[in-house]
Amino acid sequence: MKKVVLAYSGGLDTSCIVRWLRERGYDVICFVADLGQGLGQGEDFEAIEKRALAAGASKVYIRDLQEEFINDFIIPALKANAIYEGKYLLATALGRPLIAKYLVQIAHKEKAVAVAHGCTGKGNDQVRLEVAVGILDPKLEILAPVREWEFKSREEEIEYALKHNIPIDVTKKKPYSIDRNLWGISIEAGILENLEQEPPEDAYMITKGSTQSASYPRYIEITFANGVPVKVDGKAYKAKDLIMHLNEVGGQFGVGRSDMVENRLVGIKSREIYEAPAGTILYTAHKELEALVLDRELAHFKEIVSLKYAELVYYGLWFSALKDALDGFVAKTQKLVSGTIKLRLSKGTCVAVGRKSKHSLYKKELSTYGKEDKFDQKLAEGFIKLWGMPYKR
Ligand code: ARG
Repeated sequence: MKKVVLAYSGGLDTSCIVRWLRERGYDVICFVADLGQGLGQGEDFEAIEKRALAAGASKVYIRDLQEEFINDFIIPALKANAIYEGKYLLATALGRPLIAKYLVQIAHKEKAVAVAHGCTGKGNDQVRLEVAVGILDPKLEILAPVREWEFKSREEEIEYALKHNIPIDVTKKKPYSIDRNLWGISIEAGILENLEQEPPEDAYMITKGSTQSASYPRYIEITFANGVPVKVDGKAYKAKDLIMHLNEVGGQFGVGRSDMVENRLVGIKSREIYEAPAGTILYTAHKELEALVLDRELAHFKEIVSLKYAELVYYGLWFSALKDALDGFVAKTQKLVSGTIKLRLSKGTCVAVGRKSKHSLYKKELSTYGKEDKFDQKLAEGFIKLWGMPYKR
């Protein structure tokens, strides 16, 4: 029997895929990636494993990839300030190349001929997974059953699952399509497809709306060492605990929501909402610190790099030469990005209110309007003449 490694979530689609592939003669090995989708409450991986086996999988791999996700994906994106179309912190997009990497690794270990996923033909995730797999091992076949199978609705899938005794959770039909991990939550479909409508409160999972969040502000200090967040309010945290802590605090104050119509890779616009409290706090603080320690030209050029970096992540080109080269550039810029930023969180807003760094380029004696001023104003006249010279007729 030909072996296939399936990226398995435990949901209805991927559970039906296990059976569907079995019926087509494949020995199905499931791979479950833990990217922190349990959001601290813990995901029941035992139940997921049982379900995979009941659906017909011959073996289940469950891998805790949170550390690697943080160190090799989240932190580089944070250092790059990568945000897609000004609003999306790329939580879902960043996870896909990592999942692809392990699909390939397990396929090699198991001598599988193919990998499979449960993405639809309309989304970005199919592109990200397949492009990444293609780069890592072009010989592996890629199967995307949802793009070709006979089921036309969720109901038909449920019927199929029941017929084959696949244990699924049919009681509550979720009104949205949700993807979660440590770095954020992506929510789409259902009522959200109605662009004129404000997202209902129940669509958000970890952030409080403005009516429920505290009426007082919360001040929080983030300390970075070489572009990496290491402390919150003066206390050292391991990266994963730091992110979980900031998700919690940010969520309480409604920080990190976004509601956008985005341009998908496959040519359609879609309405999605996101929650990324920790990401929003860290991006805001990181950018503020860079404003202090990077010189003007470097800071401006880095903005261009941020845009491109975000596009590459969104477009599934994580394992590309350009992304690799940009990482080199970004790493160089982070040498002096150490210091502490104080933020105020309040009613969904997150703003920097204080900054401190031993690498600060701010010179009070030059910028002050007070009497300790050392700026030589006489120099301005000649500077302006030369600066404006090319534009005079
Ligand atoms: N639109 C976002 C992206 O392309 C989120 C996708 C959410 N994925 C999902 N399977 N629900 O990254």
